[in-house]
Amino acid sequence: MKAIKPGSTALFPVPAVLVSCGIEKPNIITLAWVGTLCSDPPTLGIGVRPERFSHHLIAEAGEFVVNIPRADQVGVVDYCGQVSGRDVDKWAACDLTPRQAHKVNTQLIAECPVALECRVAQHLTLGVHDLFIGEIVAVQVDEAVLADRGQIDYEKAKSLCFAGGYYWQMGEYLGRFGDWRQGIGVIKE
Ligand SMILES: Cc1cc2nc3c(=O)[nH]c(=O)nc-3n(C[C@H](O)[C@H](O)[C@H](O)COP(=O)(O)O)c2cc1C
Repeated sequence: MKAIKPGSTALFPVPAVLVSCGIEKPNIITLAWVGTLCSDPPTLGIGVRPERFSHHLIAEAGEFVVNIPRADQVGVVDYCGQVSGRDVDKWAACDLTPRQAHKVNTQLIAECPVALECRVAQHLTLGVHDLFIGEIVAVQVDEAVLADRGQIDYEKAKSLCFAGGYYWQMGEYLGRFGDWRQGIGVIKE
């Protein structure tokens, strides 16, 4: 092993998501500093720099929606992470449709297969990013990516990952949670 400069956190892969935010005039921001924090209550965290136009929209509304894009929406993900809602209407530029959420007043992105509606539970200053901790109060899933038993079919969701500045599509299926008993990997016990 060789020590390299961490260059940000060096944690990979991470998701790249489209967060819709703001109620009167909603905006979209691409975020990769996103992660699950707690199962009950279902909670996630997003890292947002205070200078982002979206930052005050999230802070003032106290809510946001994490829209999970498909890999073929990579162009939209990149664009919404390069331009600011101060200058452009990203909905119009990307031909995206705002759709009413169930539990929050922030619109979700109809073209994304999954939307997690969040209410801000805590807002912490960490350094160059602020952490918004959001309780997930509703989850909307496009029926086209639902499996028979009502769960997300991840193969159909074809999601996007981000690693070291590059976009990737989630790859090959390897096994299921607990499958070490069926022999994925070589475990000495
Ligand atoms: C793949 C990708 C991931 C990004 N992740 C973050 C992030 O986690 N936090 C953040 O503050 N900005 C992140 N950005 C930058 C913002 O998306 C970008 O500055 C955006 O233009 C801000 O939009 P706004 O001014 O409309 O809020 C990311 C950009 C890209 C392309």
